[in-house]
Amino acid sequence: MIIKTVQFVKSAVKPSQYPEYDFPEIAFAGRSNVGKSSLINTLIQRKDMVKTSSKPGCTQLINFFMINEILSFVDLPGYGYAKVSKKIRAQWQPMVELYLSHRQNLLGLILLIDIRRDPQKEEFDMMDWLETHDIPYLVILTKSDKLSKTNQQKRLLSICTRLGREKNGVILFSTKTKQGRDTVLEEIENLMGI
Ligand code: GTP
Ligand code: MG
Repeated sequence: MIIKTVQFVKSAVKPSQYPEYDFPEIAFAGRSNVGKSSLINTLIQRKDMVKTSSKPGCTQLINFFMINEILSFVDLPGYGYAKVSKKIRAQWQPMVELYLSHRQNLLGLILLIDIRRDPQKEEFDMMDWLETHDIPYLVILTKSDKLSKTNQQKRLLSICTRLGREKNGVILFSTKTKQGRDTVLEEIENLMGI
């Protein structure tokens, strides 16, 4: 897929604030700081369209971006960041859960895992939930540039074993080297059936 146009649509907290259109949506989910917003910037080839930060907890709202006027990328707030206040944490989970469980437009989800971390309960829970609800998803291992090629392959195998997935069912990705960018875009096309 060649990305020609990108527009920020809006930010939302609750369903009544979601954009009112019929376009399919691809949502990006994962632990705080795993690189969701950076991945979107790499896919759309804009450095700063989506705000990123080295501090976890950067994205606190659900952000909608229109792509080529045919689909939308949805940047979700990350989970698992202990340092935000209890109140904010209590708002996040329902915000993401409401989106995932109510949004008719949701076509597929991209689940990001840092290549250096083993998948945790949150990731297993998310995958169980997606499978129960028949929502297709891709698994991406982010920040592959942090490891040598040999260690990337080792981590890929180890994480695939833990997830019970084939090696080709998980994509290595880096915003620095752009590794995996074309594959992710192809997979999004597959999800869209184009
Ligand atoms: P929240 O919004 O807090 O949920 O985080 P996020 O998942 O959106 O992470 P974000 O994209 O803001 O990136 C977090 C940090 O990781 C930033 O400092 C990024 O520059 C860095 N980062 C993201 N992707 C990569 C990558 O592929 N390689 C390297 N080396 N750093 C990355
Ligand atoms: Mg973010």
